[in-house]
Amino acid sequence: MERRRGDSYLGKEFSEPAGLPEDVHVKLKLVCVDCHQTGEGGMGHIERKANCQDCHIEVEEALAKSVHKKVACAACHVKVLGAYEMTSWGSGKILSKPNPFKKYSLYYGPQEPPVLVKDRTGIWMPVKIWPNSVGYIKEKIEPKPGLTWRWPGGETRDAFVQLGTFSVTGGNNNYFAWLQVEEVAHPLGKARTCENCHASERQESKVTWRFYDSQGAEPFTGSQRVVADKSGLRVSDIKATSKITLMEGGNTKDFAAWLLLGDIWKTSGDFSIPRSDPAKYRNLESGIRKRTQKYEAGDRDLKQREARGEDVKKLRRQWREEKAAAVHGAYVLAP
Ligand code: HEC
Ligand code: HEC
Ligand code: HEC
Ligand code: HEC
Repeated sequence: MERRRGDSYLGKEFSEPAGLPEDVHVKLKLVCVDCHQTGEGGMGHIERKANCQDCHIEVEEALAKSVHKKVACAACHVKVLGAYEMTSWGSGKILSKPNPFKKYSLYYGPQEPPVLVKDRTGIWMPVKIWPNSVGYIKEKIEPKPGLTWRWPGGETRDAFVQLGTFSVTGGNNNYFAWLQVEEVAHPLGKARTCENCHASERQESKVTWRFYDSQGAEPFTGSQRVVADKSGLRVSDIKATSKITLMEGGNTKDFAAWLLLGDIWKTSGDFSIPRSDPAKYRNLESGIRKRTQKYEAGDRDLKQREARGEDVKKLRRQWREEKAAAVHGAYVLAP
């Protein structure tokens, strides 16, 4: 629970790569189990499910009345993701012994911003998307268009795209390839801007990574794009951006099968953000902007009063509720 994804909560030197933002709750001294229930698995086991209601009930209520009632908190409040951006399974060594299924996974880097997809109940949630392939698969596996949910019972909202098996000249045929599509929830912070999601119905996320496994090749860098639009979901333009120097016994068909597989990382379906009515959008956007300015002034005023020795606790609570409702668009449309 702590590696990769939990790291995204702590950020900074704990994230992969180091230096990503920490979650806004870290400096408030919230720890994992303030949000995640501890489960029945014994020490160290925490439930994945978490909720925000205990502390942000006013925001949940406000959001439920807004045009974004089907948009998850993290969709607006998570801006950048880290950790794996690719995996390639092929020949290598595991525990010093030759093995055909060595996982070359240290392709780490930021992905920004997260792409939004609809979960099975129609809620827009942020996901991280990355390509994976595994060689030496004997059977032929057919592609499945769209998303396949990993947990049919709904225990998690993680999915994948089954791309099928591929054969390439000189490769570890066949390769089975898929896109991982995983729900993300940290790090929470300031929200994305309206334009960030609505300037275009097409979503695009930029990815850069650094490969630094101890086998295959010396460290090298690369990049790709994740695109989600009316015609589908795809990872494109995967490329190395520095020279690949093989290590002894290193082979691209093992640690970098994506170099051989080419433009296969795509599926069909409508993955665009719905186009909103321009008048409704402008009205809401300018309303929220005006109110945010007003509330910034209000915050300063409260601070000054507090500095003068006034007890502002009650006022602050009231103020926070009002502000949460306003910035989440609960009543901006009403004149
Ligand atoms: C502010 C509340 C909060 C805190 C604190 C928090 N999390 Fe989470 N975390 C969430 C929410 C919400 C989800 C999404 C739940 C779901 O998938 O249904 C989540 C999801 C996860 C996931 C799986 C999905 C993902 O984002 O990759 C992991 C793993 C995880 N948390 C680990 C941790 C660890 C480890 C810590 C402490 C270092 C931590 N969390 C702290 C709220 C929190
Ligand atoms: C134990 C209490 C607690 C829990 C649980 C909690 N938060 Fe918070 N959160 C706070 C406090 C306190 C602040 C800072 C004061 C504020 O802005 O309301 C905060 C601030 C925030 C901010 C403001 C970020 C910014 O700088 O603009 C966001 C977004 C947020 N929380 C989202 C969430 C989400 C989503 C969850 C559920 C996964 C969650 N919180 C769970 C206590 C909590
Ligand atoms: C449509 C986008 C959107 C969604 C969805 C959203 N927020 Fe926000 N939220 C904002 C904006 C915009 C602000 C203003 C400040 C900023 O930029 O972070 C904000 C501010 C906040 C703040 C800080 C308020 C303060 O007192 O300064 C908290 C806390 C917060 N959100 C929690 C949540 C929680 C919890 C959810 C889910 C129930 C949620 N938000 C869903 C856009 C969103
Ligand atoms: C994280 C991405 C994201 C951000 C940021 C965001 N939205 Fe949205 N918005 C969506 C999604 C997704 C929908 C579609 C919701 C649905 O399917 O119910 C939506 C729906 C809407 C709609 C309703 C569409 C219609 O015509 O019925 C309006 C209006 C809107 N957003 C305005 C805004 C404004 C104004 C802001 C800034 C305050 C904003 N949005 C910020 C993702 C976002």
